[in-house]
Amino acid sequence: RLDNHVKIVEVGPRDGLQNEKKTIPLATKIELIERLAKAGLTTIEAGAFVSPKWVPQMSNSSEILEHLLQHGTPSRAPLTFSFLAPNTKGLDSAIAILSRYPKAFTRESQRTPPSKDSPGTQKPALEIAIFAAATESFSHRNLNCSIADSLTRFSAVIAAAKDADLRVRAYISVVLGCPFEGPAVDPHRVAALATELLGMGADSISLGDTTGMGTAPRTAELLTCLHNAGVRVGEDVAMHFHDTYGQALVNTAVALEHGVREFDSSVGGLGGCPYSPGASGNVATEDVVYFLESLGMDTGVDLDAVAEVGAWITGEVGKPHGGSVGKALLAA
Ligand code: HMG
Ligand code: MG
Repeated sequence: RLDNHVKIVEVGPRDGLQNEKKTIPLATKIELIERLAKAGLTTIEAGAFVSPKWVPQMSNSSEILEHLLQHGTPSRAPLTFSFLAPNTKGLDSAIAILSRYPKAFTRESQRTPPSKDSPGTQKPALEIAIFAAATESFSHRNLNCSIADSLTRFSAVIAAAKDADLRVRAYISVVLGCPFEGPAVDPHRVAALATELLGMGADSISLGDTTGMGTAPRTAELLTCLHNAGVRVGEDVAMHFHDTYGQALVNTAVALEHGVREFDSSVGGLGGCPYSPGASGNVATEDVVYFLESLGMDTGVDLDAVAEVGAWITGEVGKPHGGSVGKALLAA
């Protein structure tokens, strides 16, 4: 890995859309994924194998995965598509689709930075994302079970995903504030959860500031705590900021100083969690890319192209643009 390379995980098609009440057509979701890949996003969270009663917007995730495997996705670089699975039922649904297209995806995880000179349709790698919570209240609201029970389920999901040669990303939500328990989430508890999930075989951890309550000092405290607990922050940890209080880029700067080189963001700043009332969207991909470029970091993302995607998808969804840079570029 080049020192100045930062990996962006584009979560727009999942986190960005999951909260929308109006059903977004399958064709729009697929066009979004294809346009993001063309704009240089190489890791895209494309859907969620969750209960359709809990999150109806994600109920066509099977069709999305099927389409991606059947038709491929034009891209300059190797792609990874990620899908959420809260339990083995969700994972089994994904694996059943994969088994119909055994030659359509690569099994190895792809950590190499994108190359500008490999055009064409690439075979994607598939990744499963599980999602734990740092507070009991959020775990019950989001997963209908305690943290301990969720870990038992996740252990089974990780083992089955490993049997299928799938990479597993483990989210921990509400790490810097909980909509039900407030901002004082214990960083030691987050570190203990991260250690446990990595010990179970998760390949990486994404720390979710679900409510956007995180501040610079508390981001620093959290990452120091993880480091002191033996978690390799530079290699194994991503940050997933929501921008509800406008602190996402400040917190990104702090995370960069602590060695984090992977960040989740959503095109157009779309998003919100159905079980986090009032939380606004993820930090906009356009804002993160602009910020990282200003620091001389390389993301492989074409900023103008992703700004066009942001303008288009916010229009399709009927939402105001959630980021600053995308709006500024459009007005320029
Ligand atoms: P439950 O009701 O306790 O599940 O929900 P259950 O096991 O008792 O089953 C009840 C019904 O759901 C059954 O169907 C199951 O078959 C079905 P019925 O017999 O009633 O017809 N079911 C499923 N259907 C499809 N796919 C599945 C599945 N599992 C059970 N995988 C459950 C428990 C975990 C399923 C539910 O709570 C759930 O789906 N939760 C997901 C919530 C969610 O997606 N939240 C948003 C994503 S997390 C997030 O946004 C945070 C993040 O962005 C990071 C951050 O910002 O912090 C990642
Ligand atoms: Mg989120």
